[in-house]
This record gives sequence, structure tokens and C-alpha cells, in this order.
Amino acid sequence: MHNIISQIRKKFNISQEDLAHTLGVSYTSVNAWEGGKRTPHGRMINVLKDLLNSDDLSGLGVNAKYKNGFVRTNAGYVSSVIDYNNSRDYLPYTHNIGRWYGSLPSFLVRDLLNFIQTDYCNSGPLLANFSGSGTVALEAALSGVTCYATDINPMAIALSSLKTQLTTKPSIAKLEAAFNSISLNKIIQLTDSASTKDNLIIGENRWLSDEARLAVQEIISGISLLEDSVLQRLFAVSLSSIIVNFSNIDKRCTNHYVFKDNGNFSRHKLENALWEEVLEYINAISELEDVPDYKSPEIMYGNACSLDFENESMGIVFSHPPYGTTINYYSINRMPISVHELISFKDIPQQVVTTADCKKNDISSGTLSRFNSFTDNWVGEAYRVLKPGGIFVSIIGDSRDNGKLSHPFTDIITRGESHGFIMKELFIWVTNHKAGMHVKRKGNHIDHNYIIIMEKK
Ligand SMILES: C[S@@+](CC[C@H](N)C(=O)[O-])C[C@H]1O[C@@H](n2cnc3c(N)ncnc32)[C@H](O)[C@@H]1O
Repeated sequence: MHNIISQIRKKFNISQEDLAHTLGVSYTSVNAWEGGKRTPHGRMINVLKDLLNSDDLSGLGVNAKYKNGFVRTNAGYVSSVIDYNNSRDYLPYTHNIGRWYGSLPSFLVRDLLNFIQTDYCNSGPLLANFSGSGTVALEAALSGVTCYATDINPMAIALSSLKTQLTTKPSIAKLEAAFNSISLNKIIQLTDSASTKDNLIIGENRWLSDEARLAVQEIISGISLLEDSVLQRLFAVSLSSIIVNFSNIDKRCTNHYVFKDNGNFSRHKLENALWEEVLEYINAISELEDVPDYKSPEIMYGNACSLDFENESMGIVFSHPPYGTTINYYSINRMPISVHELISFKDIPQQVVTTADCKKNDISSGTLSRFNSFTDNWVGEAYRVLKPGGIFVSIIGDSRDNGKLSHPFTDIITRGESHGFIMKELFIWVTNHKAGMHVKRKGNHIDHNYIIIMEKK
């Protein structure tokens, strides 16, 4: 890898700083790659290989492109159509850990934050009220903005905090000791607050083979027994991220579980995958340690429809809600949440991690009319917590109800204006001159993503 980096730099006659700027990563990362101290993750390796075979640095360059992204035009509400193509589809820092369904590209968030900071002279504090896997929280932290991030899904909270909160990195010796104690544990002790109906790991069901169920339950109990709360979270999130691969669930189906025959489970493979996932995180967090002035966000449980923040306390509310019922976040996360529900965390209150609670508050679980009935609540809450002059930004795509297309972004604008927001910008985000999402289920619809910016009077 260090040869590739130096060849690229020679070819384009650029410094390590220039290359870092082009790739959208820190200088210390490029320096560590070239010095052979660290290896970039898979997607970045592909970007670097492309760069080596390309004659055009700006064609792949991150920063060269985004200057054409968020700009105001005179075309009325639609400020511009944003198209990043696919060439920038890699994720630096910890973005790539435990990818969340429907997570935002990091560069889109970064560019949007940059636009708000410069064009509206607004520097926060920022609330990401649908945190998901923490893309907004991480990008805000990287740009030095004070950030709070909330979600009702326990997996979202665990992932977002693990990915964004700089904790002292555990040594390999400590990790190995934890891993060995988990691996050797043969006593099953699970929390009894798990809602048996929705938990896919306990009880008789077909989602895990008997052998897999036993192994997973022993591993979960081993995680519960760890003394260190950081290690507990690290192993729990890692197990949640890989567990679907060892179940009978066909993970290509996003909204519902489909049974597949998984005849070749092996505990050895499961443990190896767990260890690999933990190491991937540790590798990625090393890059964050190098970011100057990194401002860890505060991640907490919170319902966007009734926020636990004071009136007029935020400068920016950045909302990336579910797109109607296109992805039912509760359903597709039942297996990962099940892991969390069965662990006694040292630092997470148990009532926050039940599948039942998640289902009750998740606006994407249920019908489209149920989803729509919440829009006024969460948009109103965003208005309430914003300071006068504060900026509300929301990214939302089209939705489908049994093949019928609907456009929840229009509701956000209408509800927002009725609360007193003033419409400022509407960007449309497409990919490769085409639909924003490339979803071909339930008919071949063209879906767009809309980026709405409104201001509180
Ligand atoms: C589109 S995802 C956000 C993805 C995120 N931007 C990312 O890049 O990872 C929507 C999120 O809304 C969360 N959600 C659903 N209902 C909610 C509610 N009432 N309050 C807070 N979060 C909610 C879901 O759990 C899901 O994490």
C-alpha cells in the first residue's frame, strides 16, 4: 500500500496534504498509509487503485466535485440538483463500521454542513434527531460542531456512540483477554426483560439453528460478564453487525425476514467474524484519534416526536427520518436488537433496549398513514427546539405504499410552514443522473431524495 500512495503522489506531483484533501481524509491517515503504519479499508483501496490508473485527479477528487454541489441558483425553490456519481462512494473514518440501512453518504452530510455553516453562518449546536448509524453525528464532530444525536432504536444509539465517541482505545492484549473469556464462556445467563415474542434469539423459532442459538447465547452471556463497559459495547455492536450472516435469514430482504436454509454454521466461523469486526473498528477509530479538535457528540435515546431538549436550544436540526414505510427499521433490526436485549449492559438502562419499545415509537413501523400522522409532531418539535434564526434541514426520499409512489417531503414542507418555518432551499439529490436510491422493488420507480432547508423566523 505504501508504494501505491507514493506512486500516486509522484504521478500527480502532489504532497501528502494534497492527496488527503482530494480523498477527504486526514493528513495523518495518508501519512500512516504511506509509512506502512496503517492500511486503508477496502473501499478506499479501490479508490486508490482507480486513482493510480487515472489521468485525472479531479475526476475522483472529493473536494473538486462538491464545489458544484450545494449552490443557490435563480430557479426558485429548487436550488440545484446534486449528483455525486458513484466515484465517491467510500466511507472514511468509522463510517463503514456496522453500516445502517439507508445511511447517508458521509460526503453528502459534510458538504451540506459546510453549506449551512458558510451560507447561513450557523455553527450549531446541532441536533441529529434520527441518528441511525451516526453519519450526521460523526460528520458534525469532525467539523468541530457541538452535536447531540438521538434515536429510538437501541442499535442506532449503540452504533452511533461507538462510532463517534473517542474512548481510550483498548490495547490488543485487553481485547484478546476479553475475546478469550467470551469464547470460553459456557454458562448461559440472559436478561429476563427480553420480550420473548419479538426476540429472535431465545425461544423456539426458525431464525437460528439450534447449534447457532446455543453459540450465540453463550457469547451474549460472555459479553454480559465483561467488567469493562466500553468492551461490552464494542463486542455487542460487533456481534449485532454480523449475526444475520449466521442466521437463517436471507438478508437481501430488507422489510421482512425470509427463511433460507443455512446448513453450514460453525462456531469457529462466528467467533472469527466477531474478532474481525472488532479489529475493523479498532483500526478505524485510530484515524479519528488523529483528527485535531475532534468534538465527541452526545448520543442518547430520544423520540423525535417528543424531544427532551429545551425550547430554543439548537442552532441546527438535521433530520433524516425514515422514508415512509420503505424501510421498516424496527423489523429489519429485530435480530441485532435481540442481541442487545439479552445483555446486561453496565452503562445502558435496560428499558431502552427492548424490541417492544422500539416498535412502539418507530415511525416507520406500520402503515404509511401511521407514518404520516407523526410528521407534524416531529417537525413541530424541531421548530420548538430551534433558536430564532435556526436552520432545519431534512433529507427524505420518495416512498412507496404497495407500489404506489408518495412524496413525504411535501408534507414536511407544508407542516413546517404551518409551524412558522420559512422555506429557503430545496435540493434534489440524484446519483449518476438517475434516481437517488436505485430501488427496484415493487415496480421500477424512479425515486429522488429531497434536501429541504427551512429557517425559523
Ligand atoms: C433514515 S434512518 C437515519 C440514517 C442516518 N442518517 C445514517 O446515516 O445512518 C432513520 C432513523 O430514524 C429512526 N427513527 C424512527 N422513528 C423514530 C423516532 N420516533 N424518533 C427518533 N428516531 C426514530 C430509525 O430508528 C432510524 O435509525
